Amino acid sequence: MQIEIINGPNLNLLGTRQPEIYGHHTFEDYILRLKNEHPLINLVYYQSNIEGELIDRLQQCEANGIILNAGAYTHTSIAIADAIATISVPVIEVHISNVWKRESFRHHSFLSPYCAGVIAGFGLESYRLALLYFLQKLSQ
Ligand code: DQA
Repeated sequence: MQIEIINGPNLNLLGTRQPEIYGHHTFEDYILRLKNEHPLINLVYYQSNIEGELIDRLQQCEANGIILNAGAYTHTSIAIADAIATISVPVIEVHISNVWKRESFRHHSFLSPYCAGVIAGFGLESYRLALLYFLQKLSQ
């Protein structure tokens, strides 16, 4: 089983970016832990700050499921929404922070209508919760 985690803009800076919101851990450390806990899952990680690169990656993805944190593009990108609507791989939208507790411009997502579900507000554990969903769903 292959699950791909795709992170969007500024998420390469996890660990140092606004740690009061996004925590003190780098994503590289976190994904190592997830990989160690799930040795039978082929967990692939991709990050880009560029909208078109995220779209290319979504279009090319051959995983069984995608865990997507599109960062600020969540609130702006009809093009990423179109890509999610086009592909057949199920996508879970995740956010580290609880976006509904924050500025109102973060309350709207162009992506959610095309995603299997949305997980937000659990810190980096949002990714683990999404992974658990895929593990259960795909082993049925
Ligand atoms: C985020 C929330 C977005 O509003 C923000 O632009 C991000 C990160 C999150 O994971 O909480 O870059 O997606």
